[in-house]
Amino acid sequence: MKKSATRRPLIAGNWKMHATRAESVALIDGIKAAAAGARDREVVVAPPYTALETVARAIADTAIGLAGQNLHWESKGAFTGEIAGEMLKDVGCTYVIVGHSERRLFFSETNETVRQKIAAALRAGLKPIVCIGETLREREGDNTLPVIERQVRDGLAEFGRDVVRGLAIAYEPVWAIGTGQTATPEQAQEVHAAIRALLRELAGDSGGEAVRILYGGSVKADNIDSLIAQPDIDGALVGGASLDAAAFARIIAFR
Ligand code: 13P
Repeated sequence: MKKSATRRPLIAGNWKMHATRAESVALIDGIKAAAAGARDREVVVAPPYTALETVARAIADTAIGLAGQNLHWESKGAFTGEIAGEMLKDVGCTYVIVGHSERRLFFSETNETVRQKIAAALRAGLKPIVCIGETLREREGDNTLPVIERQVRDGLAEFGRDVVRGLAIAYEPVWAIGTGQTATPEQAQEVHAAIRALLRELAGDSGGEAVRILYGGSVKADNIDSLIAQPDIDGALVGGASLDAAAFARIIAFR
């Protein structure tokens, strides 16, 4: 099946816990030129909290979007060390990553907290990039699609069609993150197609078709083209390679 022309590809760089402010400026300077030439696609970066304002200033005259890597589900309160969606919005974010597998693994996030955080993001006027994905054990146990289905159904429970159609979903198989072992385009497409079918069920045919489903997990300059050629892969959530301006520039320039 051909890719829908209605979905504008989204390339997002998740810097994770990397980059001081000075390093962020150097990195974003190296990305700006590549992003400027790419009108038919959207580019977003997710620096650590401490560099958000610095990067917001550096991209003020560009079309590059800014994302938080996480948020709390409340708008304010006694939650030491946490950041609210409203604070991300205030510093210039338009997107926020929700439920990354590292959050699920190291910080006990669940499909239920993901749901609460999506609600918090929407309240703050941020567009959520919702991460899902199976572990190696789940894949080897033939549980990939049931796990994905639970993550989608529980994470998106209670949201109406209009909310679901505005989300971006990032399918990031945990075994492919930071390992250099990318899912093959066919493996990724199989799961993306299953996610699309679920989204159609939740948001109607046109709503499900509108959602951008990104792939993440060892996306590099030399595999982006074959991944994004798949009909249901609408972009990428890039970790390691987004810290290398030349590599990320080539990913942005996918063809
Ligand atoms: P890598 O690209 O380093 O595998 O990380 C993927 C990821 O977790 C993006 O959110």
